Amino acid sequence: MTSLALEPASTLSTAERAALFTAGYEGYLLPFALDEAALALMEHAFDLEPEASLVARLDGQAVGLANLGLRGVDGWVGGIGIVPAHRGRGHGETLMRALVDAARERGIRQLWLEVILENTAAVKLYEKLGFAHVRELEVWSLPGDPGSTKVDPAGEAHTWLREHSTGREPWQRADETVARLGDLDPAPAGLLAENGAALVRVSAGRVTLLQLAGEDDAAVHSLLERVRGLGESVLLLNLPADDPAAPVLGELEATVVVRQYEMLLEL
Ligand SMILES: CC(C)(COP(=O)(O)OP(=O)(O)OC[C@H]1O[C@@H](n2cnc3c(N)ncnc32)[C@H](O)[C@@H]1OP(=O)(O)O)[C@@H](O)C(=O)NCCC(=O)NCCS
Repeated sequence: MTSLALEPASTLSTAERAALFTAGYEGYLLPFALDEAALALMEHAFDLEPEASLVARLDGQAVGLANLGLRGVDGWVGGIGIVPAHRGRGHGETLMRALVDAARERGIRQLWLEVILENTAAVKLYEKLGFAHVRELEVWSLPGDPGSTKVDPAGEAHTWLREHSTGREPWQRADETVARLGDLDPAPAGLLAENGAALVRVSAGRVTLLQLAGEDDAAVHSLLERVRGLGESVLLLNLPADDPAAPVLGELEATVVVRQYEMLLEL
């Protein structure tokens, strides 16, 4: 049997990485397709490092991609996929073990990832490699109600959030992500109340709610109403299931689109 050859993902162009990422996620539990621009945004916002990420080849043909994000001693698996025709033959495991080695070699001490609860193949793979379950995260969708919500400077809202937030934000909502999105257009905007704050990114009428906290349910409720005023739809990625905002979202017309495990491998 031909063995898998591994090389840095930086040997491919961004467009080629996007095409391979999409092919590796064929049959995924959610619709998944990335173009070059969408991957470039992900790589920037989430500190995905193509030189540390890996492409897997069989007889020269690219059959898999594993993305590694790097932030100090923290690393993040920003997607791993094997094209359908080559799944179930140990290649995903080989690729993932190589990614763990690459993370270790770069000084990563904690390697994080998220995986959809029902993605049995991936959950089993991560458990086999020693990843531990940390907590459950929920992706929420809230219908928008475009109105006249005014935004405040992101910096002031972010300061309030940093002073009042208690829990650790998952990778895609972490302060580092907010800072990286600040380099882009549109940059994140803030909503500030006396007793709460939110950080959002609004693009093409769609609102991504990056961070949100309030001193009580009423504060969270009124912030969410203001967030809805910013666009046609609101997406809140990976809110910890025990976050105080979760029941308030439930009281509104928000729904959980998907549930994920956050998993961690200590290196
Ligand atoms: C997850 C994925 C990368 C696994 O790659 P793969 O090459 O098919 O997996 P392997 O053949 O290397 O299997 C390694 C281990 O994964 C687990 N696994 C893989 N497929 C499985 C399945 N269908 N059912 C249960 N466990 C499975 C097992 O633990 C297996 O070890 P074992 O053979 O000793 O039982 C692949 O299914 C994939 O690309 N899926 C689509 C994209 C995706 O969901 N990515 C993960 C997002 S978090």
